[in-house]
Amino acid sequence: MASQVLVAANRGPLSYTIDAEGGLSARRGGGGLVSGLSAALAEQPGALWICAALSEADREAVRRGVAEPGVRMLDIDPTVYDAAYNGIANSVLWFTHHHLYDVPREPVFDAEFRRRWEAYVAYNESFARALAQEAAEGARVLVQDYHLALVPGQLRELRPDLRIGHFTHTPWASPEFMGMLPDDIRSQLVWGMLGADRLGFHTWAWAANFISGGTIEDARGIAAGSFPAGTPERGVWHRRTAPDGRGYGKRQFTEVTSYPLGVDADELRALAHRPEVDEKLAGLRAEVGDLKTIARVDRTELSKNILRGLLAYRELLTVHPEWRGRVVHLASAYPSRQDLAVYRAYTESVRELAAEINEEFGTADWQPVLVSVQDDFARSLAVYRMADVALVNPVRDGMNLVAKEIPVVSEAGCALVLSTGAGAYEELRADALTVNPYDVSATAEALHAALAMPDGERAERTKRLAAAATALPPAAWFSAQLADLLP
Ligand code: G6P
Repeated sequence: MASQVLVAANRGPLSYTIDAEGGLSARRGGGGLVSGLSAALAEQPGALWICAALSEADREAVRRGVAEPGVRMLDIDPTVYDAAYNGIANSVLWFTHHHLYDVPREPVFDAEFRRRWEAYVAYNESFARALAQEAAEGARVLVQDYHLALVPGQLRELRPDLRIGHFTHTPWASPEFMGMLPDDIRSQLVWGMLGADRLGFHTWAWAANFISGGTIEDARGIAAGSFPAGTPERGVWHRRTAPDGRGYGKRQFTEVTSYPLGVDADELRALAHRPEVDEKLAGLRAEVGDLKTIARVDRTELSKNILRGLLAYRELLTVHPEWRGRVVHLASAYPSRQDLAVYRAYTESVRELAAEINEEFGTADWQPVLVSVQDDFARSLAVYRMADVALVNPVRDGMNLVAKEIPVVSEAGCALVLSTGAGAYEELRADALTVNPYDVSATAEALHAALAMPDGERAERTKRLAAAATALPPAAWFSAQLADLLP
């Protein structure tokens, strides 16, 4: 049966594993996008989530026709998938939007890049075709993230009747970084995004980057202008190249809105008080005793700035030696995108630096940094409950839900050291200790102030942080976007 509400995202709500006998079992997938969307979609009967098969087991599930209700996995050719996901989405678009390039060496847009780009186009087309097949007349489609930036434009051509939204979970690059992309590639991206009726971002800052002239005005195939000044709406007027390639079609308007994703307090607190989490908490407490804790929980992700976080901790122990033997840094950095050499090298550097700090300051009965590399949500929740200080210092981040989750789950209050580069900064800045993510010394001082914060103040700030963090929980975030897509 055709669906009225559809979601498209690279990562699906579940992933499969094959056991020794060849049996398939499904397990819930990880990541903020997935947990947010799963909760929201559960409230939309008949909705369909289209995602890519990510592993051999997922592909096998597609081949065997194993289907979970509400999910369709696309078995995209593995070579095409690898070039699109690793080669373009995670190496070019992620790096562009997070400003991660080491510019004396990168980016290099050569023939190999062009080959990968073709794969990215084909991978987006697979999603557009599947959506076109599954959508009922006039259905609402919500496309997720930088992996699928071309889908709105491609789908608009196949199914002009649909209401199409696109949500970007990352920042949007500044005009300078967008300007690094080859002109025709930037044009295709803009063409793809403006196929949507509405574009969503976590913050107005990212939305403004999208709207700003550098991105849009010189895009080929699009004649665009921002909404006339002085009107409350925000967005982009544009005319798209007519299907025959001659001239432009009629004037269209793509609205651009900010939907700052928050957390569901009841759900998160219930998850955080399962017996499994209580056990992990008891284990952690036994391990750290009555020392103060500075916690961080991230994927080992370049944009999360884990290395400067460790450098700041080292500087804290150097400049404020009174903390030696009185604090532990719990750093959860679970593996991510390990197909990319630069991520493997980064993971290694994190381990090395943590080991150096332990070597330099550790004593027979005190280990300054405890690194955990397991992707273990129960353990993370236990860390959230006990942390005295949370360190969230990304160089640039679409939102950062960890900054929102910790105050909601914290038991005695947790002082939040928060980067100005996180999307969450817009909503949490008043009660966080905010830092320039590049300024290691300022981060060390913020850690010191956070550790020294009186208990009462910490608890009060945490309450206000939790209130701000839960303003737009996933179900409301999703239904606001759906409602706004109605004609
Ligand atoms: C970010 C992206 C998501 C992605 C997640 C995990 O939050 O915005 O789209 O799912 O990272 O990354 P992965 O590559 O493992 O899906």
